Amino acid sequence: MMDIKKVKFVMQIRQVENTSEDCNLIYNLSNDPLVRANSFNSEPIIYENHVKWFNKVINDSNVLLFLVFEDDDFVGQLRFVRSCEESKECVISLSITPEYRGKHIGRDFMDLGINEMRKSWKKIEIVKAEVKCENEASNKLFTKDGFDLASSVNTYYKKIGGGGYNCRVVFIPLSKTYRQVA
Ligand SMILES: CC(C)(COP(=O)(O)OP(=O)(O)OC[C@H]1O[C@@H](n2cnc3c(N)ncnc32)[C@H](O)[C@@H]1OP(=O)(O)O)[C@@H](O)C(=O)NCCC(=O)NCCS
Repeated sequence: MMDIKKVKFVMQIRQVENTSEDCNLIYNLSNDPLVRANSFNSEPIIYENHVKWFNKVINDSNVLLFLVFEDDDFVGQLRFVRSCEESKECVISLSITPEYRGKHIGRDFMDLGINEMRKSWKKIEIVKAEVKCENEASNKLFTKDGFDLASSVNTYYKKIGGGGYNCRVVFIPLSKTYRQVA
């Protein structure tokens, strides 16, 4: 049997376009149960709200949205948010489709996105990630990829009727300048 760890995926990245296809790719992935569970707002996303959000962020110069493909197959999405044009920091969030998860492509996927972001936002020195404590895959991904644990805020949430999360973990890179990927 083929060892999945040795498979090297060739991924292509592009910025999201203002099309219903791109809008729907993001919608479907964002509503994936694991993506919702790992988001700080875990409620299902209503399509109409998603379209409003999409139309807003697509024209926002402080948000970069990328889609990643392997040939025609959708691999995942990355989002970078900065507070203004002068920002030296931005926040990353990323999600991979269920078909591509757990195949050890997380690091290449993230590098691809960070390098692409840096082409547009040249002032960024620090990339932050905010992750739920219980999100094991993300915590492993960030700690192994040069990110350092900045703080673990033990803020406990309990939603009436269930849900909520234990605490928020913030990661920032170890060095000020993110490692360039060959
Ligand atoms: C987080 C995410 C992008 C990671 O991508 P991935 O393809 O699953 O990651 P990888 O296969 O590269 O694995 C990264 C590490 O997590 C581990 N891992 C993967 N899936 C796991 C799981 N379900 N439970 C525990 N560990 C897991 C891997 O073993 C690997 O650790 P290792 O290097 O010690 O072996 C992906 O799981 C995802 O899209 N999750 C849903 C959305 C999300 O949580 N986004 C992050 C919010 S910022």
